[in-house]
Amino acid sequence: MAFRSIITAPELWDGDKIARRVEGLDVLLVLLNGVVYAYKNRCAHQGVALSEGRLEGNVLTCRAHHWQYDVRFGSGINPATACLRCFAVAVAAPPLEPTVHRSVPNVLRRTLRPVRACTAVPSW
Ligand code: FES
Repeated sequence: MAFRSIITAPELWDGDKIARRVEGLDVLLVLLNGVVYAYKNRCAHQGVALSEGRLEGNVLTCRAHHWQYDVRFGSGINPATACLRCFAVAVAAPPLEPTVHRSVPNVLRRTLRPVRACTAVPSW
């Protein structure tokens, strides 16, 4: 699995998000309680950039029509059937240097984080 280095620690604060373009792909990075999450930077509804949304705790709200996601899992809160495309993240420490792999489906996130999983897989 090939990873791409995309940011360094000073670029992302805990509780914040940032957008990056990686090999033609728009990626949203979220740092929450010391854990980096990476998703395709597109809302599952109509594709608006989620980096323009509002992050409150673990809830990311799209600015367009207020769909909400739990950034810890990429799963929808409202609607619950929504699902974000997630990417595997590797963090080189220290300093924080998250990298992502672009071809990892949500199922991998489910295996890495055995918690609430997305129930719908978007057509990307
Ligand atoms: S595009 Fe995000 S809620 Fe509609």
